[in-house]
Amino acid sequence: MKKYPLLLFGILCITISLSWAQQTVLELDASQSVAKIQPTMYGIFFEDINFAADGGLYAEMVKNRGFEFLEPKMGWLEPKSDRFSLNEKSGISTIMTTSDNAANRNFNRILVNNSEGYELINEGFRGMGIKEGATYNLSLVAAKHSGNISGIIVQLIDKDGKSLGKTEITPTTTEWKKYSAQITATATEAKARLKITFKGTGTIDLDMISLFPQDTWKNRPGGLRKDLVQLLYDLEPGFLRFPGGCIVEGRTLAQRYQWKKTVGPVENRELLINRWNTEFRHRPTPDYFQTFGVGFFEYFQLSEDLGAEPLPILGCGMACQFNTGELVPLDELGPYVQDAIDLIEFANGPVTSPWGKVRSDMGHPEPFNMKYIGIGNEQWGPEYITRYKIFEKAIKEKYPEITIVSGSGPFPDGEQFEYGMEELKKLDAPIIDEHYYRPPEWFRENATRYDSYDRNGPKIFAGEYAAQSVAIASPDNKNNWNCALSEAAYMTGLERNADVVVMTSYAPLMAHADGWQWTPDMIWFNNLESYGTANYYVQKLYANHPGTDLLSITSDGQAVTGKNKLFASAVKDANKKELIIKVVNTSENSQEISVNLKGVKTESEGTSLTLTSTDLEAVNSFDSPKKISPKEGSFNIKKRVLAETIEPYSFVVFKLKIK
Ligand code: AHR
Repeated sequence: MKKYPLLLFGILCITISLSWAQQTVLELDASQSVAKIQPTMYGIFFEDINFAADGGLYAEMVKNRGFEFLEPKMGWLEPKSDRFSLNEKSGISTIMTTSDNAANRNFNRILVNNSEGYELINEGFRGMGIKEGATYNLSLVAAKHSGNISGIIVQLIDKDGKSLGKTEITPTTTEWKKYSAQITATATEAKARLKITFKGTGTIDLDMISLFPQDTWKNRPGGLRKDLVQLLYDLEPGFLRFPGGCIVEGRTLAQRYQWKKTVGPVENRELLINRWNTEFRHRPTPDYFQTFGVGFFEYFQLSEDLGAEPLPILGCGMACQFNTGELVPLDELGPYVQDAIDLIEFANGPVTSPWGKVRSDMGHPEPFNMKYIGIGNEQWGPEYITRYKIFEKAIKEKYPEITIVSGSGPFPDGEQFEYGMEELKKLDAPIIDEHYYRPPEWFRENATRYDSYDRNGPKIFAGEYAAQSVAIASPDNKNNWNCALSEAAYMTGLERNADVVVMTSYAPLMAHADGWQWTPDMIWFNNLESYGTANYYVQKLYANHPGTDLLSITSDGQAVTGKNKLFASAVKDANKKELIIKVVNTSENSQEISVNLKGVKTESEGTSLTLTSTDLEAVNSFDSPKKISPKEGSFNIKKRVLAETIEPYSFVVFKLKIK
């Protein structure tokens, strides 16, 4: 008899621990498609911020290769030159300016008085990342001026000056001539530099000194960094928004992005000071310029490689309203509108058209089949609406098949936002871009944002969003699990509203660990390595499993939008014949879910992908790049019920083959 109280106590304990995990019953109705999910639903947004292009995706390793920066010797060191007491042992370089070509004004005239006495060193983009055994393609343009310089010796060196690979070029003529050679690295080094010395004495002119890894994306000479493109490719993005962002607008109109200056031979692309060079006083980057190695041709080509729809964004005659807010008078807007019209011709026009020919001459006679064009980035006020109308009229007249994307300004609410949305609705704007850089709580609390949007109104492009762990533009923001998990929860709301939301992209995309201005960012890299953040893996899980049809998943007849800190959405992929359920648990406790599957017959076993960490502050890093990354598992269906435990702070994708 004495045993019974103990037994009762035991049963009580078991009951308490079992009921500790929250229980939620979900109803999934696969019998009908709630809405079609657009193939563009999950895309990416590339802007040259944080060394994302120059110093990043564009694999050029020499900084200021053409001596065109505002300080023409920036990035170049002359440790053995003594400008003030030129003696027999030294040499000196002088920047010569020719005024006839805005894109290539300068070259470097080097006087060598003694073979041992002069060296010119390029520091790269915070160094140059080289890998043992890898080959690097060197090219330069040279003209012998006087004397007899018989050799140009080019070496990769480490911080102590030790040679890590070498080649020699023999200059042969007093005319400008391009020379090419290769260097094989003898060691792996993240902060190598390029040293140039000479054989013989005399004066020689040098320009466009360039070094690329041979191993670029698709092995294209002068191409893109392979590891970075691979990370993008693995996302399977539905579209690629480019080139910005604020970079489109310019701090002043003169400094705006002009796509026509980014196509044709690279040496003819006129460089521009990068707006992020000076934007943040707390993160100055004086050596940040846009050489446009990733110009509009490379952009369309990359979109094609990734299988992503191109979504170019063009300025609309308004400089950044956070800076000068300079406006082009309406009667002078013509050339800006023409730029948009010509871009469509560049992308899609026949090779017989002027801009189609430029594309064809660059190696792509086939059209790029561009379908979207964005007018303006974060513009607001009547000035924007007036200008948008002018662009819209001209584009619709010439290219009615192109879908125009408009913008609602920098914030997801407030007067400017309300005004822009109202006006654009009146204009029947097809797709409106919204931006939100908000705290993680905002994302968890706003999964219902689009539930109340007009189903017959404009479609929405969530074009720039990211949870900010500290505050917008704070250098202390982290790509931590709290932010990524909150975004995952929010994204169930984007997916659940796929009838209204047709495009979404995280921002910014990339950051160089030694050259960034803005954080958080989806992908971090240095000169040798790169990794996806927890936010990257959230994006990847969504983008790899977008589905084709939205399904209804409810609890007690309601969408699953945060009650008990649980979020869920469901889709069907009609092509892969898959049922995909996304569940996010933002609670510190495990939760039991049982999903009743209605209107579908499935295999009895499925695959799950779980992204989780018990530490909300956890981040991925170069040392631990996959700390927070999807882990594959399996689960069973019994009597058409999926019953699983969702761990605390977890995002799980359940995949089931449909019979
Ligand atoms: O993503 C960084 C910047 O944030 C973008 O350039 C701009 O559009 C937004 O304000």
